[in-house]
Amino acid sequence: MEKLLNEIKEKIENVTDLKTLNELKVEYLSKKGPITELSLKMKDLSIEEKKEYGMKLNAFKTEVNNLFDTLKEKLEIEELNKKLESEKIDITLPSKRIRKGSKHPMTRIKEELEDLFVSMGYEVYDGPEIETDENCFQKLNLPLGHPARDAQDTFYLENEYEAFLLRSQTSTGQVRVMEANQDKGPIRIVCPGKVYRRDDDATHSHQFMQMEGLVIDENVSMADLKGTLETFCKKLLGEKTNVRFRPSYFPFTEPSVEVDVTCFKCGGKGCSLCKQTGWIEVLGAGMVHPNVLSMCGYDPEKYQGFAFGTGLDRFAMFKYGITDIRTMYGNDERFLNQFSRKDD
Ligand code: PHE
Repeated sequence: MEKLLNEIKEKIENVTDLKTLNELKVEYLSKKGPITELSLKMKDLSIEEKKEYGMKLNAFKTEVNNLFDTLKEKLEIEELNKKLESEKIDITLPSKRIRKGSKHPMTRIKEELEDLFVSMGYEVYDGPEIETDENCFQKLNLPLGHPARDAQDTFYLENEYEAFLLRSQTSTGQVRVMEANQDKGPIRIVCPGKVYRRDDDATHSHQFMQMEGLVIDENVSMADLKGTLETFCKKLLGEKTNVRFRPSYFPFTEPSVEVDVTCFKCGGKGCSLCKQTGWIEVLGAGMVHPNVLSMCGYDPEKYQGFAFGTGLDRFAMFKYGITDIRTMYGNDERFLNQFSRKDD
């Protein structure tokens, strides 16, 4: 055993890789190896001798195994280190450029307005784009056959009157919110989203992004409407912007107004964009009609409210000096890239 142990120690000393070590292990520890041979000698010994020999043999085997295990561990660590060393990543190499998108100008306006209204105590409500005739017209005081429907002849998903349509005006969210409100108490919401209409020129698109608003409470007056919309226009377009209220007609508000702001292109002097008037219309608004209140479950004797609706596309055009609304839906990267900001 001693001789064998020395022999193994000597050989193991020169081993520098796991493969050779394994071969050496097979040579000495396999069933046909010299250590098995030593075990076989047991059968020729007396009981007394067996005891002593057995103990020595066990101690010897443990020592040999330890020799192999210790070196194996050492070589494994060395090999791992070598691998790590050779696979080291060069962090100084330039990286591949990640092309970053940017927020669409309309998304910017939408977020800016949401923030403004939330700061004034409003909640943001998200209504569906596919609406019923009831919500888009009937509950807004536009019964079947009402002539004002003609101006919004729109995208019906089946035949008119019976089925659904893409919402054609910025007032369907208010119907849903009033109806859903269980306690029939005060409401303050804005509702952004898409609206679809038969329109198509430089300042109108068949699809636009709305911001609808509704306030319902006791003692709400036209003064609240004026104050809110003036704040809204000035915050978005700058304090110097002039805001004008013109009497108008909407079946679901009484009285109704249209809101104009100073033309962004000529500053009010008159140009082709504002048709020489110096003003551009940006909002429809008014006091919620008592019929609408009662059709949506509110008592018009107790509650009043105001509603407004606007296209954010117009505001984006003002703010960023975009002269054709249609570029906003073209998704041309040359257009969109102009709105990328570092902080996105
Ligand atoms: N719903 C109207 C439209 O889409 C705008 C509007 C909203 C007018 C609320 C009055 C009150 O043109």
